[in-house]
Amino acid sequence: MFQDINISKKFSPAERVVVYPGDCLALLKGVPDGALQLIVTSPPYNIGKEYEKKLNLNKYLEQQAAVISECVRALSDKGSICWQVGNYVYGGAIVPLDTVLYPIFNDLGLKMRNRIIWHFEHGLHCSRRFSGRYETIIWFTKTKNYVFNLDPVRIPQKYPGKKYFKGPKAGQYSCNPLGKNPGDLWVIPNVKSNHVEKTIHPCQFPVELIERLVLSLSNEDDWVLDPFLGTGTSVIAAIRHNRRGAGAETVQKYVSLTHDRIKQEIAGTLKTRPMNKPVYDPEKAGNSLRIAPWKNQEKSNQPRLLEKHVRFSAK
Ligand SMILES: C[S@@+](CC[C@H](N)C(=O)[O-])C[C@H]1O[C@@H](n2cnc3c(N)ncnc32)[C@H](O)[C@@H]1O
Repeated sequence: MFQDINISKKFSPAERVVVYPGDCLALLKGVPDGALQLIVTSPPYNIGKEYEKKLNLNKYLEQQAAVISECVRALSDKGSICWQVGNYVYGGAIVPLDTVLYPIFNDLGLKMRNRIIWHFEHGLHCSRRFSGRYETIIWFTKTKNYVFNLDPVRIPQKYPGKKYFKGPKAGQYSCNPLGKNPGDLWVIPNVKSNHVEKTIHPCQFPVELIERLVLSLSNEDDWVLDPFLGTGTSVIAAIRHNRRGAGAETVQKYVSLTHDRIKQEIAGTLKTRPMNKPVYDPEKAGNSLRIAPWKNQEKSNQPRLLEKHVRFSAK
């Protein structure tokens, strides 16, 4: 179905994949009212990354409000918006961006359905506060009548063999055989140097994070749009699950990277971490580096003396 896919630069409902090389507001202006089922993004956090100009917080929020308002116009009545954010940092103090963005969505009449905590184990090591190991995805819908497909994103039950022990269902399995609701705390590795999806971009989404949102919040053939596309992850997750994908990116090297990754996805050669793969556990994997060498220091004193070839004299 996707073998001869065209990557269009301009949005049209008849296309399947759109990568707009420029400002997201220009892309959004060309999207008809109510055309999009899912808008998912991670905007610049205003922390001075190479692709952004650090602004005063109010100015930054004004810019975000302009994009969010266009997104709401282009969102279908059954649609969802997911804004993935971390902290804005100013003079060492943090401002969790979801707390200051929430009023923008609320004032536009959107309803918050979840504030998903995305936990990961790698990142900057802080010395004056605890190191940040989570970010959030704030999920809003336009109406009460929104698409939510739980079955495709269920995860294995903790105790699949558990049975009702009394009542009319006694003896029957008590859990849903399709798995359980993944909850609102998602443990998914972030894309750092050892991750199979790592590119030159400093803050990529892992594809599996967006796959979960695409599967649960849209249906086949629906439009998924990411206003701040980066390396194209949201469009890749959309293509993988037979949705239409669109996005905008201002930096040419990331536009080119997005094209390359989309072509690899279509060809089936893009390497990604599979959805629901358990997080690497160094203990279970028997990784020897997990044993601190200094823990055995006392025991090892004698061999270390020998290693040093210390000479003993009988004088
Ligand atoms: C946090 S990154 C998104 C990374 C993306 N989630 C991924 O998986 O690769 C934000 C991206 O937005 C782009 N950007 C910044 N301002 C933009 C604008 N006004 N319109 C479109 N893209 C923009 C930046 O160049 C950057 O690549």
